[in-house]
Amino acid sequence: MRIRDPRSVTRLAELDVELQHGAALADLTSLGIGGSTDLLRIKKHESLPDLLNLLEANHVPHKFLGGGSNLLVGDGELPCAVLQLVRPEPDVVLDGNFAHVDAAADLGRMITFCAKNDLGGMEGLIGVPGTVGGALRMNAGAYGMQIGSYVREVKLYRAASRTIEVLRGDQISFEYRHTSFAPDDMMLAVILKLPSKPFKEILQGIRICNEKRRSSQPLGQKSAGCIFKNPPGASAGRMIDELGLKGLSVGDAQISNRHANFFVNAGHATAKDMLMLVADVRERVQKSYGVSLENEVVVWNA
Ligand code: EPU
Repeated sequence: MRIRDPRSVTRLAELDVELQHGAALADLTSLGIGGSTDLLRIKKHESLPDLLNLLEANHVPHKFLGGGSNLLVGDGELPCAVLQLVRPEPDVVLDGNFAHVDAAADLGRMITFCAKNDLGGMEGLIGVPGTVGGALRMNAGAYGMQIGSYVREVKLYRAASRTIEVLRGDQISFEYRHTSFAPDDMMLAVILKLPSKPFKEILQGIRICNEKRRSSQPLGQKSAGCIFKNPPGASAGRMIDELGLKGLSVGDAQISNRHANFFVNAGHATAKDMLMLVADVRERVQKSYGVSLENEVVVWNA
C-alpha cells in the first residue's frame, strides 16, 4: 500500500515520522520472506495518536512491526502500511533493580547490558532475536523463564482508547506465548524488575543457554523460531520429528534437519511455500496424533 497524497506526506514529516516507500519486508524479517509496502518509522511515541488518526482519515490500514523475528509476511504488495519504532539512544536506563527499556531495544543487547550491571533473570532469552516490544507482546520464553514474570509497567498505544496508556504488570496477564494485550495495541516501553546477580554468574547462565540453543536449533539459517506452539504437555518439534518430516520441503521452505519445529527459508522461499508446508504438517500431525497445532509464528497474510 502506498501513501501518495501530498498533504499526508507533509503531515507525516511534521509528526517526525519517516516514510520509506516500498520497503521490502523480506529484508526486515528473519525468515527473509514477504512483499513490500510503505514503512512508517516513528521517532516519537507521542506522535502515535495523531499518526493513527491521519491513517484512519485516509483509509490506510496498518500493522506494527517489531524486530520481524517471529513473523511470516505474505507475498506481493501488502494491503496495509507498516509502522515501526525507531530505537532511541539510550534505549535502556537502569535505576536500582529497575530497567526502563524502550520497546525498540534489541532483546539480546538489553539482556547483556543488564547483565554487565549485575542484573539477571533474563538469561534464558539470550539468543532469541527481536525487539523487547516483540518479546513482551508474545511473552517470549525459553529454558523455564518468560519475560512477563519481570514486567512491572508497560507503556503502550491503545487503539481502543486512541491514547498512550501505562499499565501495571498486575493488570496484564502473561500466559504461554500469549498476553492480554489487544492485537492492535502497540508496545512502547517497559519497566522490568530484575534480580541482582553477579555478572560472572549471569554469564555462566548465558553460556549454558547459548550452548543448548546452538546444539538444538538451526541458528545460522533463516527462520522465525518455532512455527507451532507446543500443545499442553507435548512438544510440537518432537511430534513432527517422530513423523519423519525433517527435511520435508515445499519449494525452498523446509523443515529444519536440526529442529523439526523450525521451518527455514533455504533459498528463495515464498510465503505461499511456507504456508503450504505449515498446512501440510498441521494436517499430518492432526491425523496421526489428533492434535491441532496452533501457530506460534505471527502470520500477516492479506
Ligand atoms: N525434539 C525432538 N526432535 C526435534 C526437536 C525437539 O525430538 O526435532 C525433542 C527434544 O529432544 C526435547 C523436546 O523435543 O526432548 C523439546 O525440545 P526443545 O527442548 O528443543 O524445546 P521445544 O519445546 O521444541 C521450546 C520453545 C523454544 C525454546 C525452547 C527452549 C516453543 C514452541 N518452543 O522448544 O522457543 O527456545 O523450548 O526453552 O515453546 C520459539 O518460541 O520460537 C522457540 C524456539
